[in-house]
Amino acid sequence: MSGDLFNPLDKKYFKQVLFEELEIKKRMGELAFEISRDCENKQVVIVGILKGSFMFFSDLVKLLYIHDIHPYIDFMILSSYGSSTVSSGTVQLIKDITTPIEGTFVILVDDILDTGRTLSFARTHLSKLKPEQIKICVFLDKPSRRIVEIKADYSCFTIEDWFVVGYGLDWNNRFRNLPYVAVVNEQNLPGP
Ligand code: IMP
Ligand code: MG
Repeated sequence: MSGDLFNPLDKKYFKQVLFEELEIKKRMGELAFEISRDCENKQVVIVGILKGSFMFFSDLVKLLYIHDIHPYIDFMILSSYGSSTVSSGTVQLIKDITTPIEGTFVILVDDILDTGRTLSFARTHLSKLKPEQIKICVFLDKPSRRIVEIKADYSCFTIEDWFVVGYGLDWNNRFRNLPYVAVVNEQNLPGP
């Protein structure tokens, strides 16, 4: 954390805004409706992977409320990227869930499905606790980057192989609070 003048809203850090706030809101409404249909008559547990899922997760559970779905809520902290834009390839469990999930309908939520390592690790980990089903729900899907075989059951948008920030997604732990999604201009980002 430095005392520099880094301003995450500076346009020079972005190549383009990919999804505006309103577009995200509209798509989120559709996604919540889709998910709510599958949740009927189920004991639902929603597990968010921190930190990236926090904004998507929060908006999603509020929309599920409108559809009369009132899930148990829990979080895992997993780490895979460190501070760069290149995956380290290994996933570490830093914080586990505490909610019992045996026999429940689990929705595993993350910001983005990229190589698939993180969600694959999380799914394998949770499946040992014997839920009835685990669904994968992501805000963004980058299928061209997949290394591990895994598919999203629910996703808001599919994107090309771009490094994006905002709506929970970060670069070096910055830009998470942007209410829109932007493609970063890596050449203009400050050094470490
Ligand atoms: P995985 O490669 O599917 O395991 O994704 C691991 C994590 O990488 C995600 O949860 C994100 O936190 C991060 N990540 C992958 N692609 C991007 C991106 O374009 N922007 C910001 N974070 C990303
Ligand atoms: Mg991240």
